[in-house]
Amino acid sequence: MPPILNGKRVLLGVSGGIAAYKSVALASRLTQANAQVDVIMTASAMKFVAPVTFQAITQRPVVHDIFESWHDAGRLRIGHVALAQAADLFIVAPATAHTLARLALGMADDMLSITALSYKGPMLLAPAMETRMWQHPATQEHVARLRGWGVDFVGPAQGRLASGEYGEGRMAEPEEIFEVACKVLGRGGPLEGVRVVITAGGTREPIDPVRFVGNHSTGKMGVALARAARDLGAEVVLVHAPLAVHPPGGVERVSVQTAQEMFEAVMRLLPETDVLIGAAAVADYRPVSSETTKIKKMPGQQIIRLERTPDILAAVGEMRGPERRHPRLVVGFAAETDNWEQNALEKLERKNLDLIVLNDVTAPDSGFAVDTNRVTLFERSGNREDWPLMTKEEVAQAIMQRVVARLGRLDWKKR
Ligand code: CTP
Repeated sequence: MPPILNGKRVLLGVSGGIAAYKSVALASRLTQANAQVDVIMTASAMKFVAPVTFQAITQRPVVHDIFESWHDAGRLRIGHVALAQAADLFIVAPATAHTLARLALGMADDMLSITALSYKGPMLLAPAMETRMWQHPATQEHVARLRGWGVDFVGPAQGRLASGEYGEGRMAEPEEIFEVACKVLGRGGPLEGVRVVITAGGTREPIDPVRFVGNHSTGKMGVALARAARDLGAEVVLVHAPLAVHPPGGVERVSVQTAQEMFEAVMRLLPETDVLIGAAAVADYRPVSSETTKIKKMPGQQIIRLERTPDILAAVGEMRGPERRHPRLVVGFAAETDNWEQNALEKLERKNLDLIVLNDVTAPDSGFAVDTNRVTLFERSGNREDWPLMTKEEVAQAIMQRVVARLGRLDWKKR
């Protein structure tokens, strides 16, 4: 399964706000993801950024003149109609108060607004303006109207505004817009209506206020799974311990520190969970007591007594019982250094899982802190598959494809 933006046609409308310079990074991100990006600029946007900047990034002509004709496959076509018909997604970033108003009122007096009016697909707006303009009832009414038509919004965020003031109105960061764009495109995919809960990262068990027992997990695999599930249309909740990578956008996040907190979060979400994937490196032991003040060094040895933490997947496995009805699917990981197959199969059984993904964490190209994984999949049915070396994104996409196939075979109604 190629990444969701691969080969997609994206219209990027840029209106006249200082955040227009950030849209250059967005255009770059979309282009790098293999989307074909056509940038449409308003007259005021061109006062902030020169069209040639977008042109160089996207390798496509920038459109701004409503009367410009358009050649497509040797045929002369009306610019806005051709663009609107070919697009899979229309993003407007930044969307100024004025642009929001024009879109909400169906005005069609420049290339951006006329193309928007000719367009029928998913639309994502990233507003950017001064706080008072954003909060003005006129703007809020326009936003409500657009939302009512099914238009999506990302941001605005709180932060420092061009005026030097702090408040709501800052355009969402390009990476956030990119992530939400993937989610919007994934809507209606095979996991639409399926709630997927994924654990990720390495838990931290406090020894004192400044130290903890931890592990090498970066959270890369869990984050890749969250993105893959989101791009297939799932409603994703990522329950994560501290991550060494950017968390995904367009998913619900529950941030925890310890195994106990992760256990409680998963249990809280369980009644509404269709698919549970345990990609976190959960500490098996924690200090019996955590000091409230920093432990001072002393001569001689220091002994930290440890106790067991709850095993999240094992607890869920026990609750599922022999029928394994709820959650519909539970997927575990086995990070092993030896006795690979035997350990993985033992975990599949003991934790009552449907599927377990084994990776050898001693191999230099697999496991913690690297971008690739070489995994073996074991299914309850006895099926075993050795997958070739892949990036963690590819492994995540392949696992989610397996989830789609397994759910398809179950006699089960989506929410
Ligand atoms: N897991 C969990 N809760 C724990 C420990 C592990 O939910 N307290 C999950 C992990 O997220 C993973 C799977 O169980 O999906 C196996 O984790 P792993 O650390 O390989 O196994 P352990 O159960 O810890 O067994 P062992 O320490 O004997 O290898």
